[in-house]
Amino acid sequence: MRAILVGGARPNFMKIAPIWHEMGRYPQHFDPVLLHTGQHYDYEMSKVFFEDLGLPEPDIYLGVGSGTHAQQTARVMATIEKVLSETQPDLVIVVGDVNSTLACTLVAAKIRYPGSAHLRRPSIAHIEAGLRSFDRRMPEEINRLVADTLSDYLFTTCEDADENLRHEGVPQGKIFFVGNVMVDALLNQKEKAKESKILQVLGLRADYALLTLHRPENVDDRGTMSRILDALAQVGEHIKIVFPIHPRTRKRLTEFGLLNGLSGYQPAAFRSPDQGLLLIDPVGYTDFLRLMEEARLVLTDSGGVQEETTFLGIPCLTLRRNTERPITITQGTNVLVGTDPERIVNESLKILRGEGKTGSVPRLWDGKAARRIINVLLEVL
Ligand code: UD1
Ligand code: UDP
Repeated sequence: MRAILVGGARPNFMKIAPIWHEMGRYPQHFDPVLLHTGQHYDYEMSKVFFEDLGLPEPDIYLGVGSGTHAQQTARVMATIEKVLSETQPDLVIVVGDVNSTLACTLVAAKIRYPGSAHLRRPSIAHIEAGLRSFDRRMPEEINRLVADTLSDYLFTTCEDADENLRHEGVPQGKIFFVGNVMVDALLNQKEKAKESKILQVLGLRADYALLTLHRPENVDDRGTMSRILDALAQVGEHIKIVFPIHPRTRKRLTEFGLLNGLSGYQPAAFRSPDQGLLLIDPVGYTDFLRLMEEARLVLTDSGGVQEETTFLGIPCLTLRRNTERPITITQGTNVLVGTDPERIVNESLKILRGEGKTGSVPRLWDGKAARRIINVLLEVL
């Protein structure tokens, strides 16, 4: 069967890689086509992941680029409609919750192949279905709701996602609890990450914290961004904070005139090795994995990083008011701290004193999720 795997933004590539590799084991059943929408396009937001994760060049590149939500979504929709009409896949696999996920699902659900019998359309599989923050102010929540409503096969990472879907009326027969493909990717790259030279390159000799920030509600608002930076300055008096900076965040910090006040892009060697903020460009997957594994503490507003730190057992503070991944809190090492500076500082210091939360690895986060997905697809299609 012809299966199009859709990736568009950074957090998609580590989710499609294990599925792509697993499909490759069944050439008699699958004719996989790798499609990149081009939502993310900088080398360090896109191509580096193909290299790190052993993915080939995409078969199809839509090149949609950045824009408002409507512009970006519309560009993906218009271009993928043409691709689907021409290639007539049997299956479209979408992952996660970005605009590319929404756009491809919407088109795949409504298309009818020209000239086909019974007005055929592709089946749609959504990987990482059922996650809910219950906060529709987040664009990703809208994307998740639409993708899940329209997909035929919903693959979930945890049982509370199954519960969310059932609660929304999704029939049990469409829901498959398979575990977490991000953990598959992590385990596949763990050995390679040991060879990463990123710690030496950055001159990290002592303990450090790792930071990522890119949520619009944090970085698009000057007041919130300033409050977070205040907190980071205080935490930075106790530990070096490595900050691979997302392009959205770099752009906003520049617009707000806040970037120069930070450490800038000076070579690491010129700074104190154990204090302050170390700004770097976003790093590839294996380097980031190495940075996470060795960190004393991770501060983030990322979705995927909450899960990866739970899997690795690294204390994580999430700078958001809610999470669509509550299992990382109930079972894992994650603590939701919001953006109140006092809370961020207190919780960070608690971890540095060795009083951080410990956790356990959620069920089926075992490196075999892609195998389970392919087994289900072989059975149902
Ligand atoms: C997107 C996803 C978000 C995900 C994040 C992962 C949506 C609605 N948002 O957010 O869910 O958590 O990716 O990183 O789909 N830019 C560049 N180079 C790039 C890509 C982006 O400079 O390669 C800049 C552009 O100025 C762009 C901005 O970043 O306008 C935002 O990019 P966009 O893809 O719209 O959203 P993200 O914030 O990256
Ligand atoms: N990541 C990376 N390099 C970085 C920052 C993050 O490889 O500099 C990886 C991280 O390990 C995780 C994914 O990117 O696998 C998360 O993506 P992101 O935070 O951009 O998106 P989200 O998960 O919030 O949608």
